[in-house]
Amino acid sequence: MDFQLTEEQLAVQAAARDFAQNELWAGVIERDEHQKFPAEQIKKMGELGFMGMMVSPEYGGGGMDTVSYVLAMEEISKVDASCSVIMSVNNSLVCWGLEKYGSEEQKQKYLTKLATGEIIGAFCLSEPEAGSDATMQRTTAEDMGDHYLLNGTKNWITNGSSASVYIVIAQTNPELKHRGINAIIVEKDTPGFVVGPKENKLGIRGSDTHSLMFTDVKVPKENRIGEDGFGFKFAMQVLAGGRIGIASQALGIASGAYELSLKYSKERKAFGVPISQHQAIQFKLADMATNIDAARLLCLQSAHDKDAHQDYAKSGAMAKLFASKVAMDTAVEAVQVHGGYGFVKEFHVERMMRDAKITQIYEGTSEIQKIVISREILK
Ligand code: CAA
Ligand code: FAD
Repeated sequence: MDFQLTEEQLAVQAAARDFAQNELWAGVIERDEHQKFPAEQIKKMGELGFMGMMVSPEYGGGGMDTVSYVLAMEEISKVDASCSVIMSVNNSLVCWGLEKYGSEEQKQKYLTKLATGEIIGAFCLSEPEAGSDATMQRTTAEDMGDHYLLNGTKNWITNGSSASVYIVIAQTNPELKHRGINAIIVEKDTPGFVVGPKENKLGIRGSDTHSLMFTDVKVPKENRIGEDGFGFKFAMQVLAGGRIGIASQALGIASGAYELSLKYSKERKAFGVPISQHQAIQFKLADMATNIDAARLLCLQSAHDKDAHQDYAKSGAMAKLFASKVAMDTAVEAVQVHGGYGFVKEFHVERMMRDAKITQIYEGTSEIQKIVISREILK
């Protein structure tokens, strides 16, 4: 792995940093408090090329590598993890999956708009009774000859109401178990498709998370991604890359909390000196900085593996497992460094602590990452 970033990668990092620092701080507390979807910010992110970073320019994307994506995700997540989860789902779960496995017609019809951020997408795997145990899909896609008939419920879907296009994982041939599952593109206004109420969440409150209900939803056969029965493998492949994005989100939350703590520790005085002169605070900062550097290396390693067309399921899972713990630990310590001020909204670190938790849950819990890693190393 080359530890030197290219000029292009540095430029992407600088552009993401500028955007996040100049355009995301304003209103981030209000968006969190009122669970306000960052519509304007996401529109701008689309214009700047952050919604389809890795998609080929042929389909309207930025044609960038995964390393650049990690760098941009870190910068956006430092300020607003709600924006970065919306970005991550669109980039790594929806656009990447469509470009890699979609038909030319699907790419022309959907990917070109998704990659520019004109519309956004959602990835719908989880169900009320199928989260970690993802093969247990109850949503059915009955093969009706020229179309599928979708019935069932999806849970916890990011971009649930703001998306226009949904990739829905559903069971067509239960007797084949996970090999009977399909991935199907569903457009929002299809009759029988209902978006449930918005979840009232602990963190990433600016993102909209909804359950989705499908009752006799008729979807043309040409909306299936890949061969019949490819849906579960599709979901697993997409999630392997998605985990690099969420690892980078966790990294960004940790770096954001650390940067605020470093600054605050030099300003706040106690016992006649800035608190940064107390060794207990210095050691907290030293632990934060070390863990963040280690998390960044794992994120970049997994991005490098993906860019080099090497297997990245294990390195992506390791990056997510480690970076999400670093995010949680760092954000908790950041609140401690801020004392009472850390406990109120104006100082941002309480939000970062709430946002950090989800990185240990979605796109596979930490326990699931350990299953993925241990299976790989025991192969
Ligand atoms: N690539 C391709 N195929 C893969 C794969 C990968 N990385 N990992 C597994 N598979 C295939 C296997 O080869 C197997 O297929 P075959 O039998 O045909 O060979 C099939 O998938 C089933 O694999 P397992 O037997 O290993 O399945 P399992 O039931 O033991 O569980 C699991 C596997 C890793 C635990 C999986 O269920 C899993 O990842 N669970 C977590 C679900 C998850 O991450 N959900 C996230 C939802 S999206 C989200 O959360 C978005 C967001 O927050 C923003
Ligand atoms: P469960 O699977 O019920 O797990 C409960 C606990 O048991 C966890 O600690 C888990 O680690 C543990 N556990 C389960 N099985 C094992 C095992 N074999 N070994 C050890 N421990 C185990 N899903 C989507 O499809 N699309 C989205 O866009 C999306 N966005 C989300 C956004 C938010 C805000 C949230 C909260 C969730 C989102 N999810 C999404 C769902 C998310 O991926 C699931 O919540 C997650 O995969 C865990 O599933 P579960 O909630 O059913 O927990």
